[in-house]
Amino acid sequence: MKWTIERIQPGDREKIIQLVINNWGSEVMVVHDECFHLAEQPGFLAKGGQQILGLLTYRIDQNTDAELLSLDSFQENVGIGSALVKRFLRIEGPKRFYLTTTNDNVRALQFYQKRGFTLCTLRRNAVQHARQLKPEIPLVAENGIPIEHELELEWFKEDDG
Ligand SMILES: CC(C)(COP(=O)(O)OP(=O)(O)OC[C@H]1O[C@@H](n2cnc3c(N)ncnc32)[C@H](O)[C@@H]1OP(=O)(O)O)[C@@H](O)C(=O)NCCC(=O)NCCS
Repeated sequence: MKWTIERIQPGDREKIIQLVINNWGSEVMVVHDECFHLAEQPGFLAKGGQQILGLLTYRIDQNTDAELLSLDSFQENVGIGSALVKRFLRIEGPKRFYLTTTNDNVRALQFYQKRGFTLCTLRRNAVQHARQLKPEIPLVAENGIPIEHELELEWFKEDDG
């Protein structure tokens, strides 16, 4: 399977809204008590022909750090998630790249740590707050782990000089 990594274009928005709703139940992502409309954020797509095989969205925050907001691979274990993250970490400008995941997402924790991210923050019970803004967040994940806490991981770009 061949794919390319491309920047999200305005014409991709409708498709992205549908993909995000199918995967996350809503187009709105709640992270650290903030709401983000994923389809309005910059990001990258993995495309195999016309088919979207993966999606990464991010934002640049007030400190000019890059925050990964969502990462989805629709064809797992063939390198798509890795290629999207690799492209994200090549964004010019930010020195610090970070993301939040939840305590149940052991696959994501493994995935990011194997790709150089380090745990930096635990926000205990943060998902309870998020549920007030987004009640459809389930109480328990499919793997049986209660979804309760947010974990932040970070990665630093080394100076070129
Ligand atoms: C986490 C996630 C993005 C990973 O995406 P992915 O496309 O499966 O990632 P990759 O294929 O690059 O890597 C996954 C594994 O496949 C392996 N792999 C990659 N290419 C491979 C290949 N050609 N042949 C065999 N194995 C391969 C990798 O070694 C990797 O294993 P590792 O993490 O133990 O090193 C994906 O599981 C997902 O979408 N999860 C649901 C959404 C989610 O939780 N997102 C993160 C929340 S912030």
